[in-house]
Amino acid sequence: MKILVTGGCGFIGSQFVRLVLDEGHEVVNVDKLTYAGNPENVADVADDPRYSFVHADIADHEAMRQAVAGVDAVVNMAAESHVDRSILDPAAFPMTDVVGTAVILGAAREAGVGRFVQVSTDEVYGSIPSGQFRETDPLQPSSPYSASKAGGDLQVLAAHHTYGMDVVITRGSNTFGPRQYPEKLIPLFVTNALEDQPLPVYGDGLQIRDWIHVTDHCTGIWTALREGVAGEVYNVGGGHEATNLHITERILELTGKDDRLVTHVADRPGHDRRYALDTTKLRGLGWEPRSSMDEALADTVAWYTAHSAWWKPIKSGEYRAYYETQYGDR
Ligand code: NAD
Ligand code: TYD
Repeated sequence: MKILVTGGCGFIGSQFVRLVLDEGHEVVNVDKLTYAGNPENVADVADDPRYSFVHADIADHEAMRQAVAGVDAVVNMAAESHVDRSILDPAAFPMTDVVGTAVILGAAREAGVGRFVQVSTDEVYGSIPSGQFRETDPLQPSSPYSASKAGGDLQVLAAHHTYGMDVVITRGSNTFGPRQYPEKLIPLFVTNALEDQPLPVYGDGLQIRDWIHVTDHCTGIWTALREGVAGEVYNVGGGHEATNLHITERILELTGKDDRLVTHVADRPGHDRRYALDTTKLRGLGWEPRSSMDEALADTVAWYTAHSAWWKPIKSGEYRAYYETQYGDR
């Protein structure tokens, strides 16, 4: 197959590009190269004859019309992906996550692409105090990010209902691993700890996330692409529930730093307290997450420790300005 992956220079996208090539297929990577897109993330496959790169915005209809020509499937991962940035600048999010999704979806439909996979998030369901979200639960997003992702999901489901398009949606839980931009909890805290900088815990730090390693998230998307039923949604959760404070303590242990680095700062506005996913439906297609949380977190810390040449250049320039705005007087 020839598979078009959007956002392939980002964290999950670059891992998914490698998975598709390992499975023996061709990849077209469409990426706008925003602050989060890094060509180094796919440098190891850039010379593979089965890999090609298109520098474009998924909201650019003409560019998408050209990019989708001759592809068998589209996996749409391109997004503005960070909740805190969405709180600072909400308008940027629907441009890619809703309009961009609608544009590439339309281009895929016009070209008769066989399958469209929308990579979404558990955050579209909102927060759940106990139990686990199922795919049939209502969408109750609470941040500008999750509201935009929910808008993307609805565009994709509407294309199935209106035009009979073959679409599948995955809703992944909080993902971690190598090459994650150091604005999200785990890479931010690991790289700050390595530099003896404060770890800014929002509020009481007792918020819970359902963590999944990036390799398991990618096999989940792959399973939905290959085995999923058209028009269906599949939760992709690792099932490793942990409070932010627990993750913080583990990072301190793994980096050999002491807890004086922990700084409780003002809580995130509208902060979702807990996410948890029921993954029975995707497991029914033969998928299961394989990583142990302890080992995968240790491997992730080891990766950041060994790859300061990857993250140190990122933590300058645009990043410093963002960091100052986000954490400066928190
Ligand atoms: P990321 O921020 O690391 O990467 C996003 C990529 O998309 C970047 O390469 C960026 O350049 C590209 N991009 C952004 N806007 C674009 C546009 N308009 N056109 C083309 N390319 C554009 O994101 P990630 O963490 O790898 O997330 C990938 C997908 O998975 C997103 O759709 C996100 O909503 C979803 N997701 C992420 C997580 C997580 O924990 N990271 C969890 C569940 C779902
Ligand atoms: P994040 O990685 O931003 O993912 P999401 O908001 O999509 O779940 O945050 C994970 C959790 O960590 C969330 O409860 C917010 C919290 N957090 C902090 O306490 N401090 C931080 O500096 C960041 C970035 C996140």
